[in-house]
Amino acid sequence: EFKDNTIIVVFGASGDLAKKKTYPALFGLYRNGYLPKDVHIIGYARTKMDEEEYHKRTTSYIKNPTNDPEVAAKIEEFKKLSSYVSGNYDDNPSFQNLARHMEAIEKGYKIRGVNRLFYLALPPSVFVPVAQHVKVCCYATNGTNRIIVEKPFGKDLQSCRDLLSSLKQSWQEEETYRIDHYLGKEMVKNLLVLRFANVAMGAAWDKHSISSVQISFKEPFGTEGRGGYFDEFGIIRDILQNHLLQVLSILTMERPVSFASEDIRDEKVKVLRSIPPIKREDVLLGQYVGANGKPGYLDDDTVPKGSVCPTFAATTLWINNERWEGVPFILKAGKALNEAKVEIRVQFKDVTSGIFKDISRNELVIRIQPSEAVYLKLNTKTPGYAFRAIPTEMDLTYKRRFTDTNIPEAYEALILDAIKGDHSNFVRDDELDVAWKIFTPILHWIDGREGPRPKPSPYPYGSRGPKELDSFIEKLGYKRGTGEDYWPTTNV
Ligand code: BG6
Repeated sequence: EFKDNTIIVVFGASGDLAKKKTYPALFGLYRNGYLPKDVHIIGYARTKMDEEEYHKRTTSYIKNPTNDPEVAAKIEEFKKLSSYVSGNYDDNPSFQNLARHMEAIEKGYKIRGVNRLFYLALPPSVFVPVAQHVKVCCYATNGTNRIIVEKPFGKDLQSCRDLLSSLKQSWQEEETYRIDHYLGKEMVKNLLVLRFANVAMGAAWDKHSISSVQISFKEPFGTEGRGGYFDEFGIIRDILQNHLLQVLSILTMERPVSFASEDIRDEKVKVLRSIPPIKREDVLLGQYVGANGKPGYLDDDTVPKGSVCPTFAATTLWINNERWEGVPFILKAGKALNEAKVEIRVQFKDVTSGIFKDISRNELVIRIQPSEAVYLKLNTKTPGYAFRAIPTEMDLTYKRRFTDTNIPEAYEALILDAIKGDHSNFVRDDELDVAWKIFTPILHWIDGREGPRPKPSPYPYGSRGPKELDSFIEKLGYKRGTGEDYWPTTNV
């Protein structure tokens, strides 16, 4: 663990990711006393700016809505431990300058040995040159070095392999922390506990009890100005292949031998290897069109004319192992939908027929965001004289049950893990490889490499998705329960 003598360098310090996520997360950790003692943060980017401008940018997303003086004072302290270096991403003198800046800070250390954490909040085009220059010019020989990188990790299996092997020329696997920020979310981390610390849950966790599983991601806004980036990737690379597949792997893996990171990641890889590449008939694609005064995807100026890039996708995955054979896992994600929600919906099978008619199925819902919750739809006798079953819920809504708990932001949790040297919630090289194997064939088809590009089905901005969605899910045996509408989305 990095306790003393730590420098964190944020590359891309003037960019969007750093401003919105990295710096607020670093501040959150600092404020709560989780950053190493005497830590120093260095922002690095091409932009030439003075320290005042740098501080203004890096603190612009730190929230202090009530103008709490204690928070304001912490922000001032936080500025003092941070400095800025501007330079290029592809030449040695710039990185040598950065190295000198680090050494000047490190001269003041009382104990020997330095810790350097390099956070690459950068576009993919400069990933590799920066990683290489850092290795050549800024790598500490008298201490520990770690590097944090973010998606996109390539665009398909081959490009991912190329990228990984370029990075590996300078950085070893144990020095590398690949972020998938969904792994830092509280409810995603909770999956291991829910599954393996509860006999009641573990016993029903297979094809004998479970009929289908849906993992869905819904955002109520479109690409809005980010269309240029998005169009090159599409919703499958943006959300399904990484975030939702990561959730799926933890939801379905076998019990790890221990909570050591390699034990967990071994099990994730194993279950992912049991998933064959997705078939075209198991895919539904959509693209939003303007509605209710909101622009369609193609109305975004940054999107190429006539683009058929999907902004919605539902895909069915199958796991060929003894536990899960025959159970459909539906991953679905969309932009510009009717609500903001990420949830896992595990639907159990029908009860043995005979004594009940038209009875709802049990369903376990794990709501990742907003308002973290776990609830189980359960049939119960209507209270009173009648003997009838009605669907109700056993509800664990975090805001009600854990009233005073502060749930850390995903990026806070992950940066802290990297400081501690814990790889459990980062993506290993072989995990990425197998994730791309599952998605590459349909991505090549969607990209038009194998003939005409498939046309996504249009859906209005603000709707639930393409009209074919309900039949796509129902054909896999999913039954809409009668209790569905009773349960509000955000019930607190
Ligand atoms: C990012 C995607 O990885 O995740 C974005 O590139 C998406 O398109 C975001 O909006 C969603 O993250 P969160 O934490 O808001 O659910």
